[in-house]
Amino acid sequence: MSEFDYDLLVIGSGPGGYVAAIRAAQHGLKTACAESRETLGGTCLNVGCIPSKAMLHASEIFEQAHEGAFEKFGVKLTGAKLDLKQMLAEKEKAVGELTGGIEFLFKKNKVTWLKGHASFEDAHTVKIGDETVTAKHIVIATGSSVTPLPGVEIDNAKGVIVDSTGGLALKAVPKTMVVIGGGVIGLELGSVWRRLGAEVIVVEFLDQILPGMDGEVRKEAAKLFKKQGFDIRTGTKVTGATVKGKQATLTLEPAKGGDEETLAADCVLVSIGRKPNTEGLGLDTIGLETNERGQIEIDDQFRTKIDGVRAIGDVVPGLMLAHKAEDEGLAVADWLAGHAGIVNHAVIPSVVYTMPEIAAVGLTEEEARDKGHEVRIGKFPMMANSRAKTNRDTDGFVKIVADAESDRVLGVHIVASLAGTMIAQAAQAMEFGATSEDIAYTCHAHPTHNEAVKEAAMAVTGKPIHI
Ligand code: FAD
Ligand code: NAI
Repeated sequence: MSEFDYDLLVIGSGPGGYVAAIRAAQHGLKTACAESRETLGGTCLNVGCIPSKAMLHASEIFEQAHEGAFEKFGVKLTGAKLDLKQMLAEKEKAVGELTGGIEFLFKKNKVTWLKGHASFEDAHTVKIGDETVTAKHIVIATGSSVTPLPGVEIDNAKGVIVDSTGGLALKAVPKTMVVIGGGVIGLELGSVWRRLGAEVIVVEFLDQILPGMDGEVRKEAAKLFKKQGFDIRTGTKVTGATVKGKQATLTLEPAKGGDEETLAADCVLVSIGRKPNTEGLGLDTIGLETNERGQIEIDDQFRTKIDGVRAIGDVVPGLMLAHKAEDEGLAVADWLAGHAGIVNHAVIPSVVYTMPEIAAVGLTEEEARDKGHEVRIGKFPMMANSRAKTNRDTDGFVKIVADAESDRVLGVHIVASLAGTMIAQAAQAMEFGATSEDIAYTCHAHPTHNEAVKEAAMAVTGKPIHI
């Protein structure tokens, strides 16, 4: 008999935690997963990836129906109306189905769900609600929550100044919405409410939106979002907010200093980034410190400096993405079961699910040059892709950054309606160490948007066919 209640206790049931727990159980470890939320699935399934994509999908259908986008294809629609209550209900239904799905998978794989907030008593003992359990190994997968902005108090219940959770559940379409932060959440949720009728103003501290993306992509994205009606104010910071009744008034200042101005809105979305969840976890009790960004530092086997305690997902350094957390969940469980668990952090795709979508994997052109690569660039506009032309969705391009000497693909950047799907082939090619020539000589089905990836690869050597 083991001296511990469990071989593994995972704290947090987001995509990192639930995947780690299921894989560990598949490996034969006696596994439990503690979750303080009422349902499993973490930020991603409850208030993140899934509900935001549900609202993006629904609002896109509405915009197309409402703006007569179908008529040129010979489909006449009249009287399209918004039923926001139904739209929100359908989103909740999808969330319920998916979080319930994780509960089913826990039962199927014999993972014990421990309900309540977990905090360490020592490195092998954790209190969850009124219960205390011991485990040989503990994986911290507590995720992240919204970074607050001093002077701008979030109150999701009131619905005037909200974070992404409130922004996914507004009961009425705001007339004016100010989005603080021109990053992923701001542009995705800004798109939702703009499509449903709000005037959306994005206030971004930096000179350009979408930090971390390739320079040309950032420029193209700003151009397209402005064309869609977004008012984008870069180089501007919000210094405070007051709320009177159902109206907020923000004070803004140029980021580099200057005259203050005010801006009124009936909804303000705070989306300036996310911070790791470590509060109330009892890290002090076990002597585990966080770094200056509040993250738990780990080695390449996800081990913290405390024996028996590992960490994965948004709570550790790296991209804050569900699939990165999932892959770390698989890998940590593999290590715990005596196998090698590998995550190639250099090849993690990221996607912004706006229209068009924006997707990237690997190095931007700027990063590649900064790292000392001489690069060759291949670019192909979606305007010249036959399927995109036929479907009348020609915004965007594919850009491939290749090493000039070896031709190895260093990064792929896509702005296109299906960029999120198209990026998968680029990630796989890079994982296999592909050159641009490898992509160019791979037969791509016709007519597909993905042919633009092949053409961009051919453009690396200056020989695309269709431009
Ligand atoms: P989380 O999913 O945050 O899960 C952590 C869980 O731990 C939570 O359920 C929390 O309640 C629980 N917990 C925390 N502390 C304790 C404790 N002490 N005791 C017990 N339980 C605890 N990523 C994508 O890749 N694609 C997307 O489209 C996407 N869309 C997003 C949209 C929004 C609006 C947001 C906010 C995020 C989005 N993300 C997206 C990011 C994605 O949600 C996160 O990267 C991902 O959820 C991180 O997974 P995780 O397992 O590390 O943590
Ligand atoms: P973000 O980091 O993507 O963007 C935050 C933006 O706010 C940046 O552009 C930043 O310069 C700006 N900013 C910071 N302080 C500011 C201030 N005081 N005033 C004005 N602007 C300010 O963060 P966001 O959008 O909150 O999303 C958090 C994370 O959640 C993302 O980084 C991503 O990891 C994850 N996410 C992923 C999604 C996806 O994969 N599709 C969707 C939504 C979230």
